[in-house]
Amino acid sequence: MIGPDRMGIIMREDANAARRQFLAWLAATPLAAGALQAMAQTPSTVITSAEQALNVFELEAVARQTIPPSHWGYLTGGVQDDRSLVTNRTAYDRWGLRPRRLVDVSKVDTSVKLFGETWSSPIALSPVSSQRAFHADGERASALAAGKRNALQILSTLTTVPVEDVIKAHGHPVWQQLYTTNIPRLGEQVVARAEAAGASAIVFTIDLLGGGQRRETQAIFARTDSRTCATCHTPRAGYDFSRKRMFDGLDMTGAVSPNSNTLTWDYVSRLRDLVKTRLLVKGVMTPEDATLAIKRGVDGIIVSNHGGRAEDSLVGTLDVLPEIAQAVKGRVPILIDGGIRRGSDAFKALALGASMVCIGRPYCWGLGAFGEDGVTAALRLLDEELIATMRQCGVTSIKAIKKDRLTKLA
Ligand code: GLV
Repeated sequence: MIGPDRMGIIMREDANAARRQFLAWLAATPLAAGALQAMAQTPSTVITSAEQALNVFELEAVARQTIPPSHWGYLTGGVQDDRSLVTNRTAYDRWGLRPRRLVDVSKVDTSVKLFGETWSSPIALSPVSSQRAFHADGERASALAAGKRNALQILSTLTTVPVEDVIKAHGHPVWQQLYTTNIPRLGEQVVARAEAAGASAIVFTIDLLGGGQRRETQAIFARTDSRTCATCHTPRAGYDFSRKRMFDGLDMTGAVSPNSNTLTWDYVSRLRDLVKTRLLVKGVMTPEDATLAIKRGVDGIIVSNHGGRAEDSLVGTLDVLPEIAQAVKGRVPILIDGGIRRGSDAFKALALGASMVCIGRPYCWGLGAFGEDGVTAALRLLDEELIATMRQCGVTSIKAIKKDRLTKLA
């Protein structure tokens, strides 16, 4: 009979085999094989300043060196075999561009208006927790970079810089993401504080309420980190909220998790009553849930699988965007995140029904690599790539980006 220890080993071997099998499949796909071949022929160089970056992957290469292993594992990993993480990205390779010629593209306007606010770009910062784990300036550096480019920033509840300081650094109201904790009245105090600070939307994350699948990659990287975690993290039962500034001054007795697994759609109605500003839900992956969210009165939805950190479903966010857009029928704006690494990816998501797109890891690579300058570089590179794509496709405004500029690949 196989005991539980041996069973654990077998499961780990299976998981590793699945990961290897998936990478082998990926390498065998024509697109990935082309990319791998191109990579093999290109000399590998490492940049030394943010300005040198040709794309966000060059920021990633630096961040891999500067961010400590366990924090890198947290940033880079998904769940289980990291398949949703990969398919978020490869979903973009299933759509090609349809270039259009002889259009006057001398003036390209990337601005978007959402909820009465005008942003210079449709590319926004997703909420990413604990940014001081990547750079000492954390969310403040992200805010300075986003603010100077007039880009929307969504701030995590688990921020390591408080919302008041982030809004001050940004210069415009940010949106506040919400984790309720397992004691939702604590989350409601976070909402009240964020609204008092001027946050112009509350973004309720609904994809980790019951807990995500296991973050194996993160755990494996953590094993390779020889630093003493207790220097920064308070050892305690459950989640460590000690460095999460949005809970300062709150009685955290009994708070052991960022989420509550008891919540249902009724809680969205409760939030709707409570939240004075705009309310969005983040983590929608089906038309059914988009419809339920609209019934509960939300102002917008974010199509997201938490950057592949919730469920290993093999379904990318771009895969589900068209059916969700069809169900939403323009009643509320749709935002999307997951896998956007190029301006052309942003273009594809906008063409398939998103009003704005959000990036997570790419700006954190910039942050880890070069602080504020790195975040600026990530935003600038993606904006430049978006503009180049718009010019190639003969569109000069974000509203004009439509599905007729895309072609579905086999
Ligand atoms: C938090 O948002 C996380 O993904 O860890």
